[in-house]
Amino acid sequence: MLKIVGLGGSLADVSRSRAALRVALEGAASAGAETTLLDLRELDLPMYNPDDENPTAAAAGLIESCYGADGMLWSSPMYQGTISGAFKNALDWLHVLGAREPPFLYDQVIGLISAAGGTQGLQAINTMEFATRALRGWAVPYVVPVAAAWRVFDQDGQVQDKEIEL
Ligand SMILES: Cc1cc2nc3c(=O)[nH]c(=O)nc-3n(C[C@H](O)[C@H](O)[C@H](O)COP(=O)(O)O)c2cc1C
Repeated sequence: MLKIVGLGGSLADVSRSRAALRVALEGAASAGAETTLLDLRELDLPMYNPDDENPTAAAAGLIESCYGADGMLWSSPMYQGTISGAFKNALDWLHVLGAREPPFLYDQVIGLISAAGGTQGLQAINTMEFATRALRGWAVPYVVPVAAAWRVFDQDGQVQDKEIEL
């Protein structure tokens, strides 16, 4: 069974990027994958510091889950025209995987999602694509930049726009 790990969401209680990630993970599960959600709000990661690469329990869990995945789904909020600091910090923790063989997220296929208030979601996706390459993965060409995410997902994370769900 393929292991698909979803990473993302914002630190907010109501998070559309987390809601979108849940929908995508449900799709992977219904296609037969074993899925895990790494919710950044729950993980509460410390800031990555290159002088101290001893991960906390939460960071170690993140690192091992990501390394053990066959593929990933990333979902970031759109902050100031790009990915959120919390999402980038999670990716920075994966730097410690550079010492493994194979390194980083070698050969993993990574699906990219963003949730934006406006219409610039693709900018966050493009940033994630650079990071995918840096971490030795492959970005899925079909990406999901969710514009006006507050209209697409309600407060409970339910999809209000069936076109996006598809
Ligand atoms: C700090 C901050 C910066 C934001 N910057 C942008 C932006 O540059 N462009 C945009 O379309 N929306 C922007 N937004 C709106 C968010 O992308 C939108 O609320 C999104 O749903 C946040 O993700 P979340 O629901 O997972 O928390 C910003 C929101 C915050 C809090």
